[in-house]
Amino acid sequence: MPSWNFEQLIDQAKKDFASVASSSDIEDLRVKYLGRKGLVAQIYDSLAQASPEEKPLIGKGANDLKKNVSELLDQKKGSPSLSAAAKKDGSCFDITLPGVAPAPGHRHILSQTMNDICGLFERLGFAIFEGPEIETEFNNFTALNIPVDHPSRDAFDTFYLKERDLSTKDRYLLLRSHTSPAQIRVMQAFKPPLAVVVPGKVYRPDAMDASHSFMFHQVEGLVVDEDVKLADLKGLLTNFCKKFFGENIKMRFRPHFFPFTEPSAEVDISCYICGGKGCSVCGRKGWLEILGCGMVHPKVFEAVKYPNGKYTGLAFGMGVERIAMLKHGINDIRLFYENDMRFLKQF
Ligand code: DAH
Repeated sequence: MPSWNFEQLIDQAKKDFASVASSSDIEDLRVKYLGRKGLVAQIYDSLAQASPEEKPLIGKGANDLKKNVSELLDQKKGSPSLSAAAKKDGSCFDITLPGVAPAPGHRHILSQTMNDICGLFERLGFAIFEGPEIETEFNNFTALNIPVDHPSRDAFDTFYLKERDLSTKDRYLLLRSHTSPAQIRVMQAFKPPLAVVVPGKVYRPDAMDASHSFMFHQVEGLVVDEDVKLADLKGLLTNFCKKFFGENIKMRFRPHFFPFTEPSAEVDISCYICGGKGCSVCGRKGWLEILGCGMVHPKVFEAVKYPNGKYTGLAFGMGVERIAMLKHGINDIRLFYENDMRFLKQF
């Protein structure tokens, strides 16, 4: 009849558990002590041969050993040093460790601004259209009444995809220098009445500095119908500026020249920093230019083969970076493109 020294067994168990290094070591010890053929099971088996006096002592000893081993097991499973070891050998997943919080992303400030601008026009019934960034010279210039000798057609002003040959000028491809060529695509594809906004990237070979980039974003707008008037242009853009910048904003339409509109204007808003008094942001003028606009030039209708004199239209184009900079007081355009999370997280 085996006799058991329970004190010694419990000491041994403590020593065993003190030296575990991995979760598989723990499992080995669990099997050694509590497994079906483990030590505790053997002790219970030995009860059958024990004398009536020994039985309660052996039963109590086995229960004590079982309890001690169970506690040691629980302690070891939650031990941080072991979870580190387990991580190393990949053998167990410690569900008690604090989780890694997901870092939810959000839209880039330029996408937000573009969505806000387009959203305001969408609510007025405008459709959203997207044109390609690689355009024909015809759509980018000729159809928009920008003549061959216009300086903006110069190779230094535009990214041509192949060297330009004046004899085949209109077939040349380039990175669009504005979103206005999308006007041509819309008018070629649809008959009036139409009202669209076109968000997208545009390219100019400008050196990067605080206010220039070789790539930036614009939103173009176009409305064509049988009786679109200058008053519609003014009302539409006034509505937009008040919704976008706030009801108290002051605006002015300043005469300007664009080849594809006649008459043409630039729209200024009162400076958001000084409220119109004059400061360094507005160059002491009190006004900030935010967009170009005008009534579609008859030559543009001619280029898309709309019937002569049947339609009138309004158009406008704005720079998204510029508008985001004005709205949020951002003073360097490069911040938009550097992917510095300290900047991007603020919006
Ligand atoms: N395309 C012009 C630019 O990039 C902006 C512009 C001005 C667009 C007047 C228009 C417009 O549609 O009518 O500078």
